[in-house]
Order: sequence, then C-alpha cells, then structure tokens
Amino acid sequence: MIKIERLTKTFGDTTVLHNIDLTIATGETVTIIGPSGSGKSTLLNCLNLLVTPDEGSVTIGEAFYQAPKLSKKTRLTIRRQSAMVFQNYNLFANLTVEANVTEALVTVYRWSKATATQRALELLNDVGLRDKAKLYPHQLSGGQKQRIAIARALAIKPNVILFDEPTSALDPELVTEVLHVIQSVVKQKITAIIVTHELAFARDVSDRVVLMADGQIVEHNTTAAFFDHPQHERTKQFLAAFS
Ligand SMILES: Nc1ncnc2c1ncn2[C@@H]1O[C@H](COP(=O)(O)OP(=O)(O)OP(=O)(O)O)[C@@H](O)[C@H]1O
Ligand SMILES: [Mg+2]
Repeated sequence: MIKIERLTKTFGDTTVLHNIDLTIATGETVTIIGPSGSGKSTLLNCLNLLVTPDEGSVTIGEAFYQAPKLSKKTRLTIRRQSAMVFQNYNLFANLTVEANVTEALVTVYRWSKATATQRALELLNDVGLRDKAKLYPHQLSGGQKQRIAIARALAIKPNVILFDEPTSALDPELVTEVLHVIQSVVKQKITAIIVTHELAFARDVSDRVVLMADGQIVEHNTTAAFFDHPQHERTKQFLAAFS
C-alpha cells in the first residue's frame, strides 16, 4: 500500500529526511516514534504532499510520484489516497460537526447532500457523537473534536489514514476516548501510520514500530521485537526515557 524509497527533504541547509526507505502492506498499522525534530511530521507530510521532497519516490494506494517533479494531476491523485488527522484537529470552525464530515464528500467527491449526510451520521455514530451533529467545534471538548476529525478523515474512505500526534494536545483524561476510536479504526484494517508518544498504545495497536532520529530510520521492527529486544543504543535510550 505504501512504498517509500530514498526519500530526502532539505529545508534551507538542514537535511530533515535522509534517504528514507519504508514499505507498508495493506491493512498494516505502523507507529513512528522519535524525539522532537526527528522528521516524523515531515515524513507524513511527504505522503500527502503538504511537503514536497527533494528526492526519492513514493507509492501510496493507487498513486506514485518521483520527486521533485510533480504534475498538478499527480499531486491531486496522491492527495486523494490518504486522510490526515492532526494534533490540533483542523476542523472548520464555521461549519457544524455534520458539515465538517460532509464537506469533502460534497465539494470534492460530488456526493449528493442526502447521501453525504447519511454517511456522516453513520460515522458520527461510530465515534459516539451522533447527538453532536448540529453543534459547532467550539461547543465540543478536545477529545470530541479529535473524534470528529477522525470521522471526517474516514468519510472519504481513504486508502491510508495518517495520524500526527493525535492525542498530544489533549488533557490527559481525554486521551483514552480518542485512543479507543483510533483502535477501532485500526481494527477495520485501514492502512495506518501513527506518529505518537503514547508508547503503551503503540505496543497495543501496531504491527510494526519505527524509531526516527535526525531524519533517519534508526530502528524498524515488529512491535514485540521492537519493545522487548531493541537492537540500537538510541532505541534503548529512547525507550528508557519513557518508561
Ligand atoms: N517548513 C519548514 N521550514 C523549515 N524547517 C522545517 C519546516 N518544517 C520542519 N522543519 C524542520 O525540520 C525538522 C523536522 O521537523 P518535524 O516537524 O518533521 O519533526 P517531528 O519529528 O515531527 O517533531 P515533533 O515531535 O516536535 O513534532 C525540524 O528541525 C524542523 O525545525
Ligand atoms: Mg511532528
């Protein structure tokens, strides 16, 4: 479902991603952990072209690009392969919860209003927020906002869902409800990449775990092996700092 080859990104004179290679099979859940500034967000952003890499290639779902030359058409097909859930929700403040979920379906995918609404209500039901459909984002808690953002991401039936620290902005008591929803998404076998600092959660939901540091993949292994038998000093230090 995802094949990243020799991906490199430089901002100014800082190389933020060095020759990244990563392959993810359909239905797999891969968690990326690593210190601040290690390039985790930049890597996710290269998968939906919020950031354009300097070198390398990406296959995602039914689309492929070879950096840095990208036609408008390639950008569009690439963007349609994935949906992203951000730390700060990125909901449309001026739209109701329901309209946040139907927006892309109606404007980008040309669904009828009625079909889009029906799909939105099903998804809101799945995330436990069917009764909030007519409210606005400012009337919700952070955990509720993030659950709406997840419903919105799922609405377009993406081939891949990307989570960038989905619980980092939440008060501790709201983290669990969001992790619970992410867990149910992952169980549906949607290919997922999750950037998170919630290591216990990573251990629970991931098929594989990647540690990034300084723009490189330091360690990449199946979840049990990663946590129980880390191979690299850097991974051991990182895990020790969190335990
Ligand atoms: N648009 C940009 N312009 C210049 N430098 C950038 C830009 N985006 C990211 N960087 C730099 O690239 C490096 C990697 O940033 P990135 O956001 O990918 O890290 P991260 O691993 O997601 O960190 P965090 O855990 O803090 O979210 C950092 O040094 C950052 O300052
Ligand atoms: Mg980040």
